[in-house]
Amino acid sequence: MNLNYYQIKKNIRRARKLVIMATNIAGSGHPGGSFSMAEILGCLFYKYLKFDPNNPQWEDRDRLVLSKGHAAPGLFSNMAVAGYFPESELETLRKFGSKLQGHPDLKCPGVEFCGGSLGTGLSYSVGVALAAKINSKDYHVYTIIGDGESDEGQIWEAAMTAAKYKLDNITAFLDRNFIQQDSYTEQIMPLDEKLEGDDLSEMWKDASRWKTGDKWRSFGWNVIEIDGHRIEQIDAAIAKANTTKGIPTMIISRTIKGKSVEHMEDNPLWHGKAPDSDIVPIINFELDSQFMIAPSIIAGDMTNLENEIKKCVSGRADYIHLDVMDGQFVPNKTFDHTKIKELRPLTIIPFDSHLMINEPVKHVTNYIDAGSDIITVHAEVTDESSFGEIHDLLKQNQVGVGFAINPDTELPDWFYKFLPSLDQLIVMSVVPGKSGQKFIEETHAKMTRLNSILKKHNFSGYLEADGGVNLENIGSIFADGARVFVGGGAIVGQQDVRVAIRDFRNEVLKSRRSILLDKANELGGVDLVNKWINLHIIGEKHEQIKKIAQEAGYI
Ligand code: DX5
Ligand code: ZN
Repeated sequence: MNLNYYQIKKNIRRARKLVIMATNIAGSGHPGGSFSMAEILGCLFYKYLKFDPNNPQWEDRDRLVLSKGHAAPGLFSNMAVAGYFPESELETLRKFGSKLQGHPDLKCPGVEFCGGSLGTGLSYSVGVALAAKINSKDYHVYTIIGDGESDEGQIWEAAMTAAKYKLDNITAFLDRNFIQQDSYTEQIMPLDEKLEGDDLSEMWKDASRWKTGDKWRSFGWNVIEIDGHRIEQIDAAIAKANTTKGIPTMIISRTIKGKSVEHMEDNPLWHGKAPDSDIVPIINFELDSQFMIAPSIIAGDMTNLENEIKKCVSGRADYIHLDVMDGQFVPNKTFDHTKIKELRPLTIIPFDSHLMINEPVKHVTNYIDAGSDIITVHAEVTDESSFGEIHDLLKQNQVGVGFAINPDTELPDWFYKFLPSLDQLIVMSVVPGKSGQKFIEETHAKMTRLNSILKKHNFSGYLEADGGVNLENIGSIFADGARVFVGGGAIVGQQDVRVAIRDFRNEVLKSRRSILLDKANELGGVDLVNKWINLHIIGEKHEQIKKIAQEAGYI
């Protein structure tokens, strides 16, 4: 499909919601492992996989083999979003006679492999990849295996065979979420170095213990290790695997079981269990409220932007906000596309180029060529026709489409028709021109107002708050509906960028938890509040959420 970063992200969100819907109706199923591989499937379905939903048996299609077949709801949800069948069909998950069973079955057109008996999918993939070589076909085989299923000896037989036959047309993913049906993988059959202590839910963070890559390397595979929830890393890994010749590739993807729903994350209980109906609306809000932190590097050392970027990347920013100022649209001048092009090779992290320039339509191609992942232009310097041109150019080049409005600007009437395909709307919370200004308080009311308009017009992108965002106000800006937070002075201007980003995230998380508690209270009073709190059993979440509920007077 070749969609852009934002479209992939939006589809993943949609697929996750379908997993919740389907398993809830079925009363059983596997959300945990569906969510740990959600981003991997998203990158495959919406960018790399060659397929035709109207002709599932197309000879030259790429083959997607879900070896960890219990995560079928994740596969089916993406198949629905990708157009194989209507989303409503997920209501039949696990029902007698449905093509959507608890494990993938060939009776569902588009499914390549009857997964479920663990350990067998990689062997099957080897056969299919060998067949491609024999028949001179250039389709690719993508296979997803679990870490629990790596206990099976057959996985390692397949690993040897793929290397022996130099099957460079196989790319496998190890969904390394550290949890299998009954417990943590390292307690049942360790893949990594023996653990001292038992802080198991934290172990995936300690890279020094990871030895799984060495195992695969010793079996003759090309190994790439990534964070399996970061789209740009999955994307780059697949691109690299596709050009690697003479050797199969294993992408070891560190993931979190149940990712995106706090009470499911890292919790073995959610391997195979369906959410209750009264919790579903709370989960859906949670899924809709994923957020991103975008540091603005102009708040740092302008003579060494390279270093500012490195700090943001190692501080785990979601993307880098690049403020382009031309000295005309705003009095200051920062940098232009040539600088962005220079910075691009430093990192694969998405570049969020915010063009504060006159006549953006004349320059937008340069910013596409420079390697921006999203480009935002201002309402004040575009009209229906020039924005239409920019919009089409960006879409054609798989670049995200952004639109920005100044504090005194409202969404122009001509713009509404673009809302359904817009990826990001920046609501300026300072007068653009420089970093370090104070957040304009009226922005709260403006965002709330805008948010309901946006919903009515099928906007499914991200609302970005830009200017004066800090630890004191970020929680309430999140409550207004913002999902991307630019941070100049409050992030890049700080001594420790990593800590600043972490603190930003924690503040948003606090605000989100308190909104979810409000939601639980509104839907089911104190009983539902308690029920929801008690779902959070891993780490310190339970205590932290209880404290918020007590402060709010719910319990
Ligand atoms: C303002 C820019 C912002 C700004 C952010 O014109 O678009 O991105 O630099 O910096 P802070 O967070 O310091 O306001
Ligand atoms: Zn900006």
